[in-house]
This record gives sequence, structure tokens and C-alpha cells, in this order.
Amino acid sequence: MSRSVRALGIAGSLRRNGNSTTLLRAALAGAQQAGATTTLIRLDELILRGCRGCDSCPDDGCRQRDGFGAVHAALALADVWLFAAPVYFDGVSGTFKTFYDRLYWFRRQGTEVRPRLGGPRRGAMIVTYEDPQNAFYEQMAQRLVNYLPGFGGFAPGRVLACSGLGPVGAARSRPDYAEAARALGAQLTHEISSDAP
Ligand SMILES: Cc1cc2nc3c(=O)[nH]c(=O)nc-3n(C[C@H](O)[C@H](O)[C@H](O)COP(=O)(O)O)c2cc1C
Repeated sequence: MSRSVRALGIAGSLRRNGNSTTLLRAALAGAQQAGATTTLIRLDELILRGCRGCDSCPDDGCRQRDGFGAVHAALALADVWLFAAPVYFDGVSGTFKTFYDRLYWFRRQGTEVRPRLGGPRRGAMIVTYEDPQNAFYEQMAQRLVNYLPGFGGFAPGRVLACSGLGPVGAARSRPDYAEAARALGAQLTHEISSDAP
């Protein structure tokens, strides 16, 4: 049975029109073409504190009252989560990692580790970097999205690793990456649409 799908993009670069955000937009365009309603949240527009590891996440959201509140609500509603971040010094950007750590709420209930979300959901991460080749970066992104099923309802997360993207506008000259991102967004949306509610 077909149903309406909500796809949410999280842009983890502080570059306004950087490579990861360019490809995230392509993924959201693919999701939209496949019938999803789409939203893009830019982490550079938010003030986010790091997870404090209090291990006592209240049911109505994180104890910390900051920019994460709005993201949290959007994530809870979205069927498809699309993340995008650059590699900084062999890790994901600090901005994105700070955001990702706050997802802890989705797998923590009081002192128990228990998924908060229902399904079906899909998630993926686009990671961009300058190195012409680096399997470690792809694995790093894969390890992050491997946590998605632990939030509840998610199929295993996917990764689109885009190498050789150094300068700020580099992704705009890579229609192959744009097409792969578009196909990813469309594919995840189709998978959700064809799942029974
Ligand atoms: C502070 C900083 C650190 C970086 N570290 C790496 C790195 O360790 N490996 C790499 O391949 N590229 C590195 N890069 C290049 C970025 O990953 C690359 O330009 C990426 O496409 C940027 O994505 P964005 O435009 O979405 O921010 C670094 C860039 C910056 C600004």
C-alpha cells in the first residue's frame, strides 16, 4: 500500500553551500521526486550543546533546552533520515558529531537502553572528503548509521561516500555523485512507500 513519506535532511557542514549539503539537496530532490515531502535542517543555524551523558533522558525530550528541541521533533516525525557531513581530521565534523551524540535520547529511556521509535524507517549518510580514496571514511560513516536500528524501526543504514571533494564547490562538478544521492533519496522513499503502515 502506498502512503505519504516524510524525508528529513540534516546538513552537518558549516559551509552554506558546501559539498555535503549540495549532495544532501540532491538526495532530498530524489526523495521528493519519489513522492516524499522534504525538510532540510542546517546544523549551522542551531546552537547545540553536547550530550551530557546524564543517562536519565526524560520521555518528553532531552533535559537540555537548546536547538536540538526542533530537530528532535522533526526527526521523530520523519520516515527517512538523510545525514550529510564532511570529514574533518579523519572524523566527521565536530558540528555533526555533536548533533549525532544527542540522538542518544532515541535509544535511552531512563536507565534502560530501549528504542524510542516505531517503524518502518530508513536512514542514510552522505560523507564527503578530499582524499581521492579512503575506505576508513566510508566505514566511519557506516558505523554511525549502524546505530539507527537501535533507535527503533530502522532498517540498516546506508552510506554514500564521496571522495575527491576538496574545494567548496567541488560537488557541483560531479553529476555522478549527484545522481547517486538522488537515487539514494528516491530508493529510501520507495522502500517506505511500499511498506505497510
Ligand atoms: C578543518 C578541515 C579538516 C579536513 N580534514 C580532512 C581530512 O582529514 N581528510 C580529507 O580527506 N579531507 C579533509 N578535509 C576536506 C573536507 O572533508 C572536504 O573539503 C569536504 O568535501 C567538505 O565538505 P563540505 O563542503 O560539505 O563542508 C578537511 C577540511 C577542513 C575544513
